[in-house]
Amino acid sequence: MKFFLDTASLKDISWAAQAGLIDGITTNPSLLSKQAGDLDPRDVLKEICSLVEGPVSAEVVAVDADAMVREGQSLAKIADNIVVKIPMLEDGMIAVRRLATEGIRTNVTLCFSSVQCLIAAKAGASYVSPFIGRLDDVGQEGMDVIREARVIFDNYSIETEILAASIRHPRHVVEAAMIGADVATLPPDVLKKLLLHPLTDRGLDQFLADWNKLVARAKAAV
Ligand code: G3P
Repeated sequence: MKFFLDTASLKDISWAAQAGLIDGITTNPSLLSKQAGDLDPRDVLKEICSLVEGPVSAEVVAVDADAMVREGQSLAKIADNIVVKIPMLEDGMIAVRRLATEGIRTNVTLCFSSVQCLIAAKAGASYVSPFIGRLDDVGQEGMDVIREARVIFDNYSIETEILAASIRHPRHVVEAAMIGADVATLPPDVLKKLLLHPLTDRGLDQFLADWNKLVARAKAAV
């Protein structure tokens, strides 16, 4: 399973990239506005693209097809690894198709049903992003969308990658991996939680305490 980091934080991206843990990045206007401050968001995206070899999703903010295509073309010029994020809209699907014919990869975002995923794939999206956590938040079973989309895509050998988004905790990652989502995009805090287990901490404390006793005994014997 590929892991993307769902952030525009250069510090978090740099850590995860150095540890070889991430295969790409997803951003959205909210994440960029948090990170960019006074900086031009395009400069932030450029910097992110230099830190990570894999795909970096950058979202358009236009909502009509022509403007989305223009914005997508402009985002794609930032770096070769930019993937243009397009919202699930009627005009969005036209933009996906037009960008695909130009060889520009897209990630259709704000998907909340498996049939939206199917539509995005038919339009020519490289990735579809069902939002798991936001569905859970409104009392639906977000993971069902991943489950259904996986079956549908496999039934028809659809190559569009299923990117599990709006991931809130490690169980989401486990379930998405068991179902066979191609990618999970993780907020940095969730990625860091994947490393944790209380028995790991307890075990390390015990090893270090035993080692220190051994050192103390050796010193006393000199
Ligand atoms: O980047 C899209 C998605 O992952 C957003 O997640 O936590 O804002 O629902 P969240």
